[in-house]
Amino acid sequence: MTKHIPVLLEETIGGLYLKKGDIVVDATFGGGGYTKEILKRVLPGGKVIAIDTDLSALTSFTERAKEDAFLSSVLKQEALVLVQSNYSALESILEERGIETIDALVADLGFSSDQIEAGERGLSFLLRGPLDMRLNREVGITAGEIVNTFSLEALEKILRDLGDESEYWRIAQSIVKTREEKSFTTTDELREMIERVYPKSKRYKMKIHPATKTFQALRIAVNEEEKHLGDFLKQAKNRLRKGGKIAIVTFHSGEDKKVKQFWKEEAEGCICPPGFPICKCGNKPKVKILTKKPIIPTAEEIQNNPRARSAKLRIVEKI
Ligand SMILES: C[S@@+](CC[C@H](N)C(=O)[O-])C[C@H]1O[C@@H](n2cnc3c(N)ncnc32)[C@H](O)[C@@H]1O
Repeated sequence: MTKHIPVLLEETIGGLYLKKGDIVVDATFGGGGYTKEILKRVLPGGKVIAIDTDLSALTSFTERAKEDAFLSSVLKQEALVLVQSNYSALESILEERGIETIDALVADLGFSSDQIEAGERGLSFLLRGPLDMRLNREVGITAGEIVNTFSLEALEKILRDLGDESEYWRIAQSIVKTREEKSFTTTDELREMIERVYPKSKRYKMKIHPATKTFQALRIAVNEEEKHLGDFLKQAKNRLRKGGKIAIVTFHSGEDKKVKQFWKEEAEGCICPPGFPICKCGNKPKVKILTKKPIIPTAEEIQNNPRARSAKLRIVEKI
């Protein structure tokens, strides 16, 4: 059983305007909530290429699919193709399967409820586990390696730039001081240290736990989320057919800013300096932004699924 409840499901999948026969990429398969909805709209004749960097997301779905006649048959007929990969390898994933262009793409960024509730992955400060945080546990460095070996300046930069943590310097200094005595090994050691050093005057007014932003920053750094997202957006735009749609759901301001800025630049026409009498650059808009403001969940959705509270959906169409 997946515990993950898909966020903004109707708004996201409805916003792709799918039809029978479409080829769609679900770049962040997770519990398969979006993919199942897409399949209903593109079959018969269509196909979903579903990507996830976390092998366990795919294997647990394949196990569940054995009990489900519909899912077993779509997997057998390859109307649903599961790919373990980072979404930043999108173009090679499509090339390997002989797919030149796609009709739509969806990405629901970050991690699933299943991943955060698996304490042994170290993604949650509420659950005791190793300081790992890698979504793909076969590659990359762990949060523990960052915390125990990175310089003070590098730690400050991670907490400030990726976590938007105003107490970045206090937390980074305390990490460095603490590890002189003993390295950090578990999530609760880091959480307890942050609880100890976080100023009481600020904690009193905060709606979130003081370790939230530090854990977010470390997860982004461990999984190199910014770099992969940038590479992925370029490839997604390249591979989309004219008139096709891309829907991206983000969960924190840094991520949303990056997606918003990328589409803003792609939607721009002439980029000649102001005052040029005629256009010399010849730049043409490549996409049309369909969501001038991001779509956010209703109060009812947030009540049923608190994880949805920070979600923002942006949709574009290729022109
Ligand atoms: C929020 S969940 C997706 C949930 C899904 N929409 C559903 O309805 O079940 C995000 C998923 O994206 C995966 N993911 C995160 N970063 C990724 C990346 N760079 N490449 C591929 N998958 C990634 C995570 O492993 C996680 O399973």
